[in-house]
Amino acid sequence: MKKASPESPIGIFDSGIGGLTVANAIVRSLPQEQIIYFGDTAHLPYGDKSADAIRYYSLRISKFLLEQQCKMIVVACNSASSAAYHVLVDFFRGQALFVNVVDPLVEAVAKKKYHKVGIIATKATVQSGMYERQLRSLQPDLEIASLATPLLAPMIEEGYVHNEISHAVLHSYLSHPSLEGIDALLLACTHYPLIRPEIEDFFGEKVNIYDSTDVVTSAVEQRLGSKNLLSEAKQHPHRFFVSDYTPSFESTTRLFYQEELTLEHCPIW
Ligand code: DGL
Repeated sequence: MKKASPESPIGIFDSGIGGLTVANAIVRSLPQEQIIYFGDTAHLPYGDKSADAIRYYSLRISKFLLEQQCKMIVVACNSASSAAYHVLVDFFRGQALFVNVVDPLVEAVAKKKYHKVGIIATKATVQSGMYERQLRSLQPDLEIASLATPLLAPMIEEGYVHNEISHAVLHSYLSHPSLEGIDALLLACTHYPLIRPEIEDFFGEKVNIYDSTDVVTSAVEQRLGSKNLLSEAKQHPHRFFVSDYTPSFESTTRLFYQEELTLEHCPIW
């Protein structure tokens, strides 16, 4: 692999197209950067898979992104960040910078010294306990309620947002007694920014809502800046790969990414 230069692309991956919310935020804030996105649509959803399976997929996808000469890999999936981030950093040490979506969110929330926070995420993310461990290491007295909300990612992928169904599903999850009394809620899945307005409507002003888009973009900018790897001028167009292609994935990308894009089928399995 060539040594990374500022003009090298940023690799971003997710189980599917939810990570496009993170890609979208990075492209808007850092328009001079080229991104290479990989959505593992052949294995979607990761949230119901074992940690071992998620690690295996994440290693293979990272290898693919490194073959595209990426200078940084953003693990734009909470399930993969929780199960595989440390394995990726160890395995590819010295070959690229890695950024996950958990650390920036934890740091942003821990600074606020809330009394009680809620976390909604996939089963894999909740079972990993990564958010709870990291939040507690920064704020030992924090009360934390983690709730697995496995219906949300498939519902959003199917385009069920801002309608009666999403309203009913959200209402049922967010009324869970464990979330009573929270001061803040972490949307710990990269699909959830799409339903953030509905969640804000549910809680009103009394709960602060956090998602990973802006905090992860700041982390990317800061890490690249600290290594003198911020690009000054974009050289090549962005590319968006998926491991399984269907026209419905392509049409759903419009929900997650502000510009029209073309998905390229890349069967790495
Ligand atoms: N986008 C993934 C995450 O952030 C969730 C979707 C899935 O279960 O694959 O965890």
